[in-house]
Amino acid sequence: MKATWILPDGREITAEVTAGHSLMEAAVAANVPGIIGECGGTMSCATCHVHVTDDWRAKVGGPSDFEDAMLDIVEGPRTEASRLSCQIEMSDTLDGLVLKVPFE
Ligand code: FES
Repeated sequence: MKATWILPDGREITAEVTAGHSLMEAAVAANVPGIIGECGGTMSCATCHVHVTDDWRAKVGGPSDFEDAMLDIVEGPRTEASRLSCQIEMSDTLDGLVLKVPFE
């Protein structure tokens, strides 16, 4: 399965993502700038902020209450498309997912 990250300057990085892995793990493995994943996916650092592109927002869904609170401290602008990518798990329905990195 694949995912693409669009960087603030418009560059795109596409990488293979294994089902069950988070989009944060995949971004770190692919050296996507701006995705740090400092806490390893335990939702305590907010350094994995992404904006889900419009076409994918319904499939990805919204944040949990705790994630919603963590989104208040992210780098880059928080919008309705904001998610912590450590909380997005790759699956068949998300193959081809496109995310924007709001802050590099
Ligand atoms: S990796 Fe720390 S909150 Fe997502």
